[in-house]
Amino acid sequence: MPDTLQNPLPKGAFRLKYEEQLRLVPWPFKGYYKTLAEKNGYYNRVFMQEWGNGLEHEPVLEAGCGEASDLTRREVKMHFLVGIDPLPDDIAKNEGLKFKAIGVLEDLPLRDCFFAGYYSDSVYEHIDHPVKCTREAFRVLRPGGRIIINTNSVFNPFMFPNKFLSLKWRERLKRVAKIQSEGTFRAPYKINTARRLRKYLREAGFVDIKIYRWGLPAMYRPRWVLFLLLCMELLAELPMFCGLKHRLMATARKPS
Ligand SMILES: C[S@@+](CC[C@H](N)C(=O)[O-])C[C@H]1O[C@@H](n2cnc3c(N)ncnc32)[C@H](O)[C@@H]1O
Repeated sequence: MPDTLQNPLPKGAFRLKYEEQLRLVPWPFKGYYKTLAEKNGYYNRVFMQEWGNGLEHEPVLEAGCGEASDLTRREVKMHFLVGIDPLPDDIAKNEGLKFKAIGVLEDLPLRDCFFAGYYSDSVYEHIDHPVKCTREAFRVLRPGGRIIINTNSVFNPFMFPNKFLSLKWRERLKRVAKIQSEGTFRAPYKINTARRLRKYLREAGFVDIKIYRWGLPAMYRPRWVLFLLLCMELLAELPMFCGLKHRLMATARKPS
């Protein structure tokens, strides 16, 4: 199995093995499903890790690191990875960070122009004032520093209800659907369109902003639900409907 398929599941999906998932996919979609899985694995892991190339001995901030981080699992270790998160118990479990800080992205307790990289995965969907966060990111990055924000698209049918459901209801639904995930956090989705991501990064001063999208339907039984999901994915291949894709990511740079 190619490397990128080792963990092709979107975060929060059923933790089924790839082969088990593939067995559930209706036959006309098997080839397409493999392509989706490969792309998902590539963007969720490989792309994010490759982004760190050249930063192995530079200070890099993992914003909202939680208890685990893909950056800490890189083949080439990052020697100066600093993690920040508001939850002390979670960050205490995070191994592989050189320094740990407790705090929020809106008000970083860190000095100006220090970091060469700013990495954030699955955090910006939880933020109420994202422009404060992008401005703070710009402040702590040194000239030429790079940023990557990996989040969800609000238009994805599985993400959209999170905007309105209470935490209690989301927890209940997860239990019924047997969905395992890192935790349930508020998800106001204030930056979760390509237009807003670009706008807030540009307003903060970033340049060379690039947007990426991909997605992979989480596994739901019965199979006809999966069939509908895959039809939706096909529709999302059209530029007009690309907002339906699950993941949304931006990379950018602070001008030198
Ligand atoms: C779904 S977890 C993702 C954790 C980790 N980045 C990962 O990819 O596994 C969301 C994380 O965002 C953090 N978070 C939520 N709001 C935040 C804020 N305003 N500032 C910093 N971190 C925040 C939570 O504490 C949690 O650790």
